[in-house]
Amino acid sequence: MSGEGRTSGLSPASGDGPEALPGLLVEGAGAIATLAGGLRRGSSQGDVAVISDGGPGGLSVAAWGDRLIAVGTSVDIARQIVAAGHSLADFSRLDAAGGLVTPGLIDAHTHLVFAGTREAEWQMRSRGAGYLEILAAGGGILSTVAATRAATVSELAAAARLRLAELLVNGTTTAEAKSGYGLDTAAELRQLDVIGRLDAEGPIQLVPTFLGAHAVAPEFRGRPDATAAYVAAVIDEQLPAVARQGIARFCDVFCESGVFDPEQTSRVLRAARGYGLAMRVHADELLPSGGAELAAELGCVSADHLAAPSDEGVAALSRAAADGRAVVATLLPATSWFLGKHHFAQARRFIDAGIPVALATDLNPGTSPTTSLPLVMSIACLEMGLSPAEALAAVTINAAHSLGLGAEIGSIEPGKQADLVIWSVPSIDQIPYWLGGRRVRSVVKRGRQVFGAD
Ligand code: NIG
Ligand code: FE
Repeated sequence: MSGEGRTSGLSPASGDGPEALPGLLVEGAGAIATLAGGLRRGSSQGDVAVISDGGPGGLSVAAWGDRLIAVGTSVDIARQIVAAGHSLADFSRLDAAGGLVTPGLIDAHTHLVFAGTREAEWQMRSRGAGYLEILAAGGGILSTVAATRAATVSELAAAARLRLAELLVNGTTTAEAKSGYGLDTAAELRQLDVIGRLDAEGPIQLVPTFLGAHAVAPEFRGRPDATAAYVAAVIDEQLPAVARQGIARFCDVFCESGVFDPEQTSRVLRAARGYGLAMRVHADELLPSGGAELAAELGCVSADHLAAPSDEGVAALSRAAADGRAVVATLLPATSWFLGKHHFAQARRFIDAGIPVALATDLNPGTSPTTSLPLVMSIACLEMGLSPAEALAAVTINAAHSLGLGAEIGSIEPGKQADLVIWSVPSIDQIPYWLGGRRVRSVVKRGRQVFGAD
């Protein structure tokens, strides 16, 4: 097991100095992709609601406290601010320099908190070893479990902080973060505790997910009833403890042939629902495993991966969306890419079937060691046939819905949380076009500038 080196030069800007004013005015934008108008699916997946042509003063977005209050041309904004009873003197200014402004990006699927790295396993895979084969032999997820159990809370937090700094400079303002590398009650709680601490530290808002059913814990392996006994431990011991502490919003399960089957997944998720947790699921990543069907049946808020769903699974998700019970298909193209099999989720098929599509990094040490949603957008455009606009909706408003936060974040609309990215590029197309590039000029979280590249 190797370690990570330090990342340097990624210091967030401080928005809380003595000079902080209650208002923030982002001005001089060339275009604003507002993403106003709710969940995107089908033919609206790529409708990013762009405002352009702001005249000589450009376009602006105004926030008061942590909320957005106005968006439009500079002249209009000044008028709206005064009409709302505020004084322009109470707004600090942030120059968008003619660039594009979008909502803060939302990473709806990460395994943020872990210790160790797995580059040796990655190389084994490139020599032909299979991901599930490595897991069955006690490696893969289980090697990260060993390293994570052995790490202290402060080591876990320090490693995750470096990743969060990278997420931020790539434009992410909210990220889901899973447990799942503890696999016993104490270690799962510890991971969730670290997520809670990092959320409190900010500036990135973290949404905690309990993933006790990520793999069968090592101490259960070798028993004939290993999976059944571990599922019972998740339901009877881990879940009640997590629920008692109120430290997870979601429960997730790795539903995959050879890991947890739909019946076991269903029992864990139903138990979680009984404790008031919302449900999401790792579904059909490698083989058709009944995950998509189950997500539709249970009313999961999101089904993730979906690189290998059955036809019935896609039909079930399509029917759910048509009935107003949409399960967001959260696709993870960097994972498919890093697994090296060229086996990508069929995003166009989901879009044609009216299923809302989100994109996420799946940041984890085994299958997707990336912190960059813009890179994920590039891979989605190159390998899944998404347009840049469809990819942008997938990492903003649809990702917000994937986290059950569609009313709060994901678009630039008055009343929503003031989470913004100011890009150093003028158009949506240029975000995924600069492959592996870093084109974020500034980031605003809850009305405060938290990163500035200049
Ligand atoms: O989403 N597939 C299961 N979980 C992660 C990988 C975790 C790991 O390999 O450490 C995923 O790809
Ligand atoms: Fe994952």
